[in-house]
Amino acid sequence: ALIRLSDYRAPAWRVETVALDFDLGIDASELCARLLLRRDPAQDAPLRLDGEDLQLLSISLDGLQLPATAYRYADNVLEVDGAHDGSVLETRVRLRPAANTALEGLYLSGSRESGFLLTQCEAEGFRHITFFPDRPDVQARYSVTLRADRERFPVLLAGGNPDGAGELEGGRHWARFVDPHPKPSYLFALVAGRLEKLERDYVTADGRPVQLKIWAEADVIDRCHYAMDALERSMRWDEQTYGRNYDLDVFHVVATNDFNMGAMENKGLNIFNAKYLLADPDSSTDEEYRHVEAVVAHEYFHNWSGNRVTCRDWFQLSLKEGLTVFREQSFSADMNSAPLKRIEDVALLRRAQFPEDAGPLAHPVRPAQYSEINNFYTATVYEKGSELVRMLAGRLGRDGFRRGMDRYFERNDGRAATLEDFLGALGEANDTDLMPYLAWYGQAGTPRLKARGHYDPARREYTLTLAQHAPGVAGKEPRPPLPIPVKLALFARDGTMLPLHLQGAASGNLHERVVVLTRTEQSLVFTDVASEPVPSLLRGFSAPVILECDYTPAELALLLGHDVDGFNRWEAGQQLATRAYEDLRDGDATHALHAWCDALARLFDSEAIDDALLADLLTPPGEIELAERETAIDPQHIHGLRQDLQRHLAERLGADALYRRYQALAGHTTIELDAPSQARRRLKRRVLELLHLLDAEGACLLAAAQYRDAPGMTDRLAALAVLVRGHADAAAGALLDYRQRYADNTLALDKWFSVQAQMPGEPALERVLALEKDAAFTPKNPNRVQSLLGAFVRGNPSGFHRVDGAGYRLLIERLITLDSLNPQVAARLATAFNGWQRLEPKRREAARLAIAELAGHVGLSRNLAEIIGNVLNH
Ligand code: ARG
Ligand code: ZN
Repeated sequence: ALIRLSDYRAPAWRVETVALDFDLGIDASELCARLLLRRDPAQDAPLRLDGEDLQLLSISLDGLQLPATAYRYADNVLEVDGAHDGSVLETRVRLRPAANTALEGLYLSGSRESGFLLTQCEAEGFRHITFFPDRPDVQARYSVTLRADRERFPVLLAGGNPDGAGELEGGRHWARFVDPHPKPSYLFALVAGRLEKLERDYVTADGRPVQLKIWAEADVIDRCHYAMDALERSMRWDEQTYGRNYDLDVFHVVATNDFNMGAMENKGLNIFNAKYLLADPDSSTDEEYRHVEAVVAHEYFHNWSGNRVTCRDWFQLSLKEGLTVFREQSFSADMNSAPLKRIEDVALLRRAQFPEDAGPLAHPVRPAQYSEINNFYTATVYEKGSELVRMLAGRLGRDGFRRGMDRYFERNDGRAATLEDFLGALGEANDTDLMPYLAWYGQAGTPRLKARGHYDPARREYTLTLAQHAPGVAGKEPRPPLPIPVKLALFARDGTMLPLHLQGAASGNLHERVVVLTRTEQSLVFTDVASEPVPSLLRGFSAPVILECDYTPAELALLLGHDVDGFNRWEAGQQLATRAYEDLRDGDATHALHAWCDALARLFDSEAIDDALLADLLTPPGEIELAERETAIDPQHIHGLRQDLQRHLAERLGADALYRRYQALAGHTTIELDAPSQARRRLKRRVLELLHLLDAEGACLLAAAQYRDAPGMTDRLAALAVLVRGHADAAAGALLDYRQRYADNTLALDKWFSVQAQMPGEPALERVLALEKDAAFTPKNPNRVQSLLGAFVRGNPSGFHRVDGAGYRLLIERLITLDSLNPQVAARLATAFNGWQRLEPKRREAARLAIAELAGHVGLSRNLAEIIGNVLNH
């Protein structure tokens, strides 16, 4: 059954307060819920509460036990007769946490002996815990009492402020938490078990003392210091940048190994996938450190963008997610290098969101309908959603955006809001109508922007024509144009920026402007231009579009050499590399290839460029991005061509120069996290990878030594990856060493699985089958599944897309098993079939057969059925 945005109705019944009383146990937990109900006088609907797979023990209304004739529980709805405004409904249910493999609702993390209990409610997990109107526009005040055996569950946590604790008979104890802020049910959380903590005292800018407590199992608590620092930085940043203060006396953060997603912003009790909370030099790469900082910030920022102001319904999910991703991206840019962060984020958008938006799973940032909401925690809602907020922020400018955000928070505090509320507040505070941007939220697909330049030397005029077109949707009306902000500059052929005299615009000695394209086609005339310029367009990636501009290779090389916008410099290199790739593919003359290699060779020798940016410049677009441009995709062929492309680059740079650079970088090996140290490690890895293409044997010797001597994970994993991906003999020894070294380190072992699952080409599948037999593999842990199967089907195109279809058959077999354990994990893995229609005919047919077989399987979860149905039928 499809849920539609257009069917939204305000709730007929609300809950003012809810008191939850838990008796916790691993196999069975019991819970009594007391709801004070409020009825909307304008609606005349019976009281209906959500509840899935609940074992109802007793039910009473206003103090009286209800006879069986006074309520009905069927099809996940409990309907109760006789309730009125002000009624108190009390239900008692039994839950089975240890048997909950879906990791939604109340479940056990780790083993029965030493694991702990926790909850995950977003989006609709609360209905797996108790009967409730489980929708975000029902906001209630929660009081939660936990009771459990003291020995087995020494730590008892729930969201809100602590409100007493004490002993009970029989070795049991209790603790109560009261949350003064009304919240939707998806933000409820509890945690109970044996956990250790790190503590820090914090005082908010508005003077509230807050205890920050990070909880984890004893063996990993020492790896939480970095997260604590990141949390404090996030809190300060939100105070300084948005004037937002924390609003409870305690802030709990908990790490678990068993989690479906990255992390969860439960009010006052954030719960993290350990992957995004733990960090130490011996087990985490630099990239993982950045992810920890980003996810800690993301979840913390939700306290305002998500919790204080929540979503009216799940169609508005991007209201909190897109906005919070944007806030996190700005924070990370401030804490680290802004251009590198931008490059990383756009690369992610292109790798994950563009393909989603171009295939059968495409949906608008605000979807119009869904069957299973968990399938909509997508790159489109998150990443494209963030790009939309970024356009608005750019449009309003720094102060205007702050003014707008202040207005948004002030107007909507305590409310369940919509995207219209957001655009309305931002616009109103700036006397601007931002509603035209709503069109971005309502349409799927990546718009294309065509740019054409014409120079008139006689008039010294440069005319830039910009035209947009929305991706075609068969049988649909042409769409009205979108507002597209284009940040631009013009370069002279000597690499200097020209002052911009835009006809019809206020003058000034600007070298950069933002022009908002509002029509299907628009021409900009620049006057007083001395010679034919090279335009730098969409600087900083000012809009999430695909730019098509017929630059010559020399023009792209000029931007790659001179653009001062770090992002656009990288972008010029990506465009040029793509052209070079196409030259190789089509057997054409290789002007682009030479231009690309020459420009990079110059940069490689220059002192002026940051090591990390250089590493990124030396990396062509990935296989997934390159495939996006083709219609009969052969992933193995793409892999080979991309290797050739990089080999040409390595040859142009020269083995001597690469060795020298490698040695120079290796001379400074440390585990420090400062930017220059991280940058050196990033470049060193890239240089080693390029060397490997020139001299596999020599590079493997270096890699083996680097593996052996590495002081930290970044260098160790980089070396291991070179050995494994190059199919080197030395890989076996290093893999064995790693396996033993990290036998007790779950997160480090995940990387051992991933690096092997990503070995290119045919042999990968055999390796995956062998790794499934490793004692450490289990289909029950989402991170482990992701690290082996996810890395294979989503991160290794040349390995997964075997021409014999064996990859596809493996995937459908695993999906059937996984779906019966954890539908969310299965559904996410199944998105690997996205794009199968554009495979070359042999693979396409093999994929179609596999998908059709899976679609015919009876008893698929709603999660998996929706993905497979969409993938097959669109
Ligand atoms: N709100 C979480 C975040 O910060 C994501 C939770 C999604 N969980 C789920 N089961 N769909 O991004
Ligand atoms: Zn989020």
